[in-house]
Amino acid sequence: MAETTATVRRVSAKYEGRKRALIPILQEVQDELRWLAPETLEAVAAELDLPLAHVYSVATFYKSFSLEPRGRHICTICMGTACHVRGSAAILERVERNLGLHAGQTSEDGEFTLERVNCLGACAQAPLVVLEGRYYGRMNETKAEALLNKAKE
Ligand code: FES
Repeated sequence: MAETTATVRRVSAKYEGRKRALIPILQEVQDELRWLAPETLEAVAAELDLPLAHVYSVATFYKSFSLEPRGRHICTICMGTACHVRGSAAILERVERNLGLHAGQTSEDGEFTLERVNCLGACAQAPLVVLEGRYYGRMNETKAEALLNKAKE
């Protein structure tokens, strides 16, 4: 809780506590704490002097905000059409086996979250895997597994 409060205060101060900066503040706080826990949203609401319901509505509206715990490493597999026809289902299956997770799950040790999306807007590079926010194009099962194994080191 102390870490949450300190993080929210620091990020909010960077934006001079401006209510209009709610979205970038939530984004930066999430980047640091990995997800937006209920106490985090309460701290943001208190810090910006905004109604908690408003903070919740913003946090739930945008897909980029996670109200569930997320792992230290986020692995996203694109399952859009272009990626699918170039083998993303096999990549997802290999990654699921490697991590022992299904898409949408986070490992118990909090290390990995596996997600799937329906197009990352970079279809020319299909099939696509995103790890730690970095895009890796023209992937296959072996390359995806090598990426994960490197992230585990
Ligand atoms: S379908 Fe994967 S990036 Fe568009």
